[in-house]
Amino acid sequence: MIKKILLTGFGGMLAQDAAAVLQPCFEVITRREQELDICDAEAVQAAVCSIRPDAVVNCAAYTLVDACETEQEKAFAVNATGVKNLALACRQSESLLMHISTDYVFDGGKQAPYTETDAARPLSAYGQSKRAGEQYAQEITERHVIIRSSWLYGSGGNNFVKTILRLAQENKELRVVDDQRGSPTWTRDLSHAIKALLDSEARGIYHVSNQGSCTWYEYARRIVEHAGLGVQVRPITTDELKRPAPRPAYAVLDCKRFINDTGSALRTWESALDEYLQSELHEV
Ligand SMILES: NC(=O)c1ccc[n+]([C@@H]2O[C@H](COP(=O)([O-])OP(=O)(O)OC[C@H]3O[C@@H](n4cnc5c(N)ncnc54)[C@H](OP(=O)(O)O)[C@@H]3O)[C@@H](O)[C@H]2O)c1
Repeated sequence: MIKKILLTGFGGMLAQDAAAVLQPCFEVITRREQELDICDAEAVQAAVCSIRPDAVVNCAAYTLVDACETEQEKAFAVNATGVKNLALACRQSESLLMHISTDYVFDGGKQAPYTETDAARPLSAYGQSKRAGEQYAQEITERHVIIRSSWLYGSGGNNFVKTILRLAQENKELRVVDDQRGSPTWTRDLSHAIKALLDSEARGIYHVSNQGSCTWYEYARRIVEHAGLGVQVRPITTDELKRPAPRPAYAVLDCKRFINDTGSALRTWESALDEYLQSELHEV
């Protein structure tokens, strides 16, 4: 039974919600990057050895998808070697490693939701580094849970929702990509899924996202409409946007394994987004 958790990458968007959700139920020891750099193998070993957590929940990552293309060394240091360091320390202390990964490990060529057994073929350096991290966790310790999620937003970090709200105040028209499909996921809902998986005997890979899917354009329209902003939202193609990192055209995750094994399901992306917007707009 899990009682004590070491939460890495505290300060990041998901980690802040995860800490809030887990703290009432577990002893949660949080570490920011400045307190524990997961790239530092000795520091990771020492921290896990002295804290002796039942589980390490790794929210630390280098998440700037476009910057990863030019900073591949950093991407692999954090997203791959960092996970290797955690996995080795977890194996030694017999702790569970719960690691967060991404839909960007897939190439987006499928037309139906991706299952955990579908082949990972990442398109970007970010996706490749995250896949390498997954492989280290899988190879080093049997006691691992890898949670792949998608299109995260939450109050604790910069995200698409905040960007759209800001741009909508500054512009009359927004041009948003309409040929990439995924599932926006609220970090608070994902944090409850993390708790459900910690409470279960789960092992291996789990896909977890809010239910349903949309394109970035449809997502932006819902944000703007909910906020009552008069800005025009126009659909564009990925090619028109010209971003450095390639992204999967279709990145919807099949979450049945999570639902079957925990008996809980995340609500629809629309319902989660509406509640998040209500709290976010209330604070402005
Ligand atoms: N955001 C998304 O849309 C999305 C989608 C799917 C999956 N995910 C995955 O979900 C997880 C959480 O994402 P997020 O959006 O919450 O990311 P985030 O806000 O960027 O948080 C990541 C945290 O990790 C810290 N960090 C970076 N390098 C570190 C190191 N070497 N040692 C320790 N900490 C380090 C960062 O600190 P600094 O800020 O100081 O660098 C930051 O606080 C990640 O694994 C990500 O790959 C994210």
